[in-house]
Amino acid sequence: MANLFLVPKKIVTGKDALESAGPYLKELGDKALIVTDRVMVSTGNVEKLTTLLTDNNIRYVVFDGIHTEPTTEMVSQGIEVYQETNCNFLIGIGGGSPIDAMKAIGAMITNTGKLTDYMGKELKNPPPPLVAIPTTAGTGSEATQFTIISDIENHVKMLLKGAVLLPSLAVVDPVLTVTAPPKVTAATGLDALTHAVEAYTSRKAQALSDIFAVSACKRIFAHLKTAYQNGQDLEARNQMVLAALEAGIAFNNSSVTIVHGMSRPIGALFHVPHGISNAMLLEECLRFAAAGAPERFAELAQATGIAGEPLPYEAAAGKLIDEIGRLCRDLEVPSLEAYGVDRTAFGSNLDKMAGDALISGSPNHTIRQPSKEDIITIYKKLWK
Ligand SMILES: NC(=O)c1ccc[n+]([C@@H]2O[C@H](COP(=O)([O-])OP(=O)(O)OC[C@H]3O[C@@H](n4cnc5c(N)ncnc54)[C@H](O)[C@@H]3O)[C@@H](O)[C@H]2O)c1
Ligand SMILES: [Fe+2]
Repeated sequence: MANLFLVPKKIVTGKDALESAGPYLKELGDKALIVTDRVMVSTGNVEKLTTLLTDNNIRYVVFDGIHTEPTTEMVSQGIEVYQETNCNFLIGIGGGSPIDAMKAIGAMITNTGKLTDYMGKELKNPPPPLVAIPTTAGTGSEATQFTIISDIENHVKMLLKGAVLLPSLAVVDPVLTVTAPPKVTAATGLDALTHAVEAYTSRKAQALSDIFAVSACKRIFAHLKTAYQNGQDLEARNQMVLAALEAGIAFNNSSVTIVHGMSRPIGALFHVPHGISNAMLLEECLRFAAAGAPERFAELAQATGIAGEPLPYEAAAGKLIDEIGRLCRDLEVPSLEAYGVDRTAFGSNLDKMAGDALISGSPNHTIRQPSKEDIITIYKKLWK
């Protein structure tokens, strides 16, 4: 079987990545719409970018109307600003939320109809050039053909895709992430870990995505705890931005599976941040997937050095999942209850959540196919 492998056109990494990106930005246009959130303005990250643009004679307009988990409404506002101000390319700077919003705004400049029309379809028309500058080490959106936008009318987190959504340029600079508070570092780092583990154990895994998934897992196991405990540790931050990028490349060319499928409905209905809802589900979902199909989990345990010595598949898979569970506890991932989710409301939405999880398509890539009943059982286990 043949496999296609897609990455952004250009990727700049390292401590001075942003400062050195001027010439690459200049190739893409002369007026940028900067899509971001207010936190990025207050941390000074936006100013670093605007200074660089000014130094390179690139004009810009700042649209800082994105909040966490971007919505169709925010995307519409961004499109309006882009068109009214005659920009000719887009830069998303921030966590996954501003980057995803930037991709969706770009896509709807050149694709007709409404964003919601593209759920389950492919965005085909190339948008203006897209530049992604992540400030969290998590989503890997800088290297993916996906954007996740909440449809506020139907309370669904839409997964939209198209190879044209891959950025022309990704600028991956650890310095931009040092201000991320521990909770954001934990949530986003565990999102990256979920991407890597799901990519490796997906039915769609391929030889090249495996390489990136293993490397991402190794870096995360070695450095996420340090980045969480000491956000100023630039080496740990650098390892984590690389891991998030690698994990993004891995799942972009393989897929995510049951965890992401089940995580989006929790985010849509109860507004739990993406990385946290993944982390809440991670151990239970992986135990489900590995039961009866432990080989790929065992291989990953060996490849990352978690298994230590050659072990039977079940034992090696168990070691990997134990290690992941330990990391989630070290990073103080809350339970649904501790996060403040209403148990009764959760219970009465189980059927919708399981249905929405399956409709997203992600659970079908799991190495062990889950049924709707299996998904409901896992959701219930989160309240034990
Ligand atoms: N497109 C993809 O491939 C993909 C993959 C996974 C997740 N996602 C989506 O990405 C979104 C989540 O992105 P995220 O987890 O990066 O969070 P986010 O962008 O929502 O940011 C979380 C919070 O951290 C703050 N923040 C970000 N960087 C900071 C920094 N350097 N210093 C201080 N504060 C900082 C933000 O302002 C925000 O308040 C979700 O909507 C999720 O569904 C997309
Ligand atoms: Fe994710």
